Amino acid sequence: MTPVVHRVVGRRRETDDVVTIQLEPVSGTRLEFRPGQFNMLSAFGIGEAAISLSGAPRDPGPLRHTVRDVGPVSHALCQSDVGDLVGVRGPFGSDWRIGDRSEDGRDRDTVVVAGGIGLAPLRGAVQELVAASRENGGRVFVLVGARDPSQIIFNEDLQAWADDGAYVDLTVDRASAQWSGRVGLVTTLLGRAPFDPARTRALICGPEIMMRFTARALVDMGVDQRAILVSLERNMECGLGWCGHCQLGPFLLCRDGPVVAYAGVVSDLLAERER
Ligand SMILES: Cc1cc2nc3c(=O)[nH]c(=O)nc-3n(C[C@H](O)[C@H](O)[C@H](O)COP(=O)(O)OP(=O)(O)OC[C@H]3O[C@@H](n4cnc5c(N)ncnc54)[C@H](O)[C@@H]3O)c2cc1C
Ligand code: FES
Repeated sequence: MTPVVHRVVGRRRETDDVVTIQLEPVSGTRLEFRPGQFNMLSAFGIGEAAISLSGAPRDPGPLRHTVRDVGPVSHALCQSDVGDLVGVRGPFGSDWRIGDRSEDGRDRDTVVVAGGIGLAPLRGAVQELVAASRENGGRVFVLVGARDPSQIIFNEDLQAWADDGAYVDLTVDRASAQWSGRVGLVTTLLGRAPFDPARTRALICGPEIMMRFTARALVDMGVDQRAILVSLERNMECGLGWCGHCQLGPFLLCRDGPVVAYAGVVSDLLAERER
């Protein structure tokens, strides 16, 4: 439960209210983590919040977290500057299981669908998948939706992934005068992407309604429900399966999630919450 003190060693503004901070332990070595996991970050004197790791295990250097300023803790984290101290507990929870092979051991297509800041918990997975596809094959499709062009995060990464052979497509709900790309919901990108549904796994992160519609569309296209993973957010306190704050149906999401398979209970729970 005791946070490990880290120092902010880098800071980058992604959008008007999203900032990526880079953290190094004041003493000791960097935490090991898997893409999809989260840390409890503390802004000292203010409180703690669950924030996903947005870096990739294969990238050496500081831990990365990408934070949207929505309340007291995230505001303090977004305002933190190089040299400031932040507490870190973790890493907690399940991951995107990117090392899993298909049942026949052959490479498969991976479709990554992100809504807004939902690309942050997926960034490390995409970094690993794009690198693995260069080494071992397996196609990577990255489909991103944002409210408007100014809300798209990680523009340089999106370009780098495309340059490295990934299929990258973007859409916005509302265009700006300068935007010449697609306009519409992220689900409209699914039909254009030339993946093979029978050999596809999908990783989805964004608002719950977006994850529900995306997962349903993928199932309708023929993707196996068991091969669809979603990342669910609930209020976190302990992060250790002790307090029950993060309960959703039979799950404690700090322990059994945040990344869970869409099949079965989760698809029912997501549908239930929309009613
Ligand atoms: C597993 C997990 C991973 C997460 N990863 C990230 C991450 O990578 N980056 C990130 O920025 N956040 C992430 N979050 C969300 C973050 O933990 C919450 O937003 C947290 O409540 C922020 O604390 P706060 O004190 O700043 O705001 P709070 O005081 O908790 O919230 C302030 C207000 O904002 C609203 N609010 C809370 N969360 C959100 C939200 N996500 N979007 C819009 N409004 C919201 C609340 O309803 C409240 O009205 C994650 C949450 C979980 C459970
Ligand atoms: S946050 Fe305490 S049980 Fe999950």
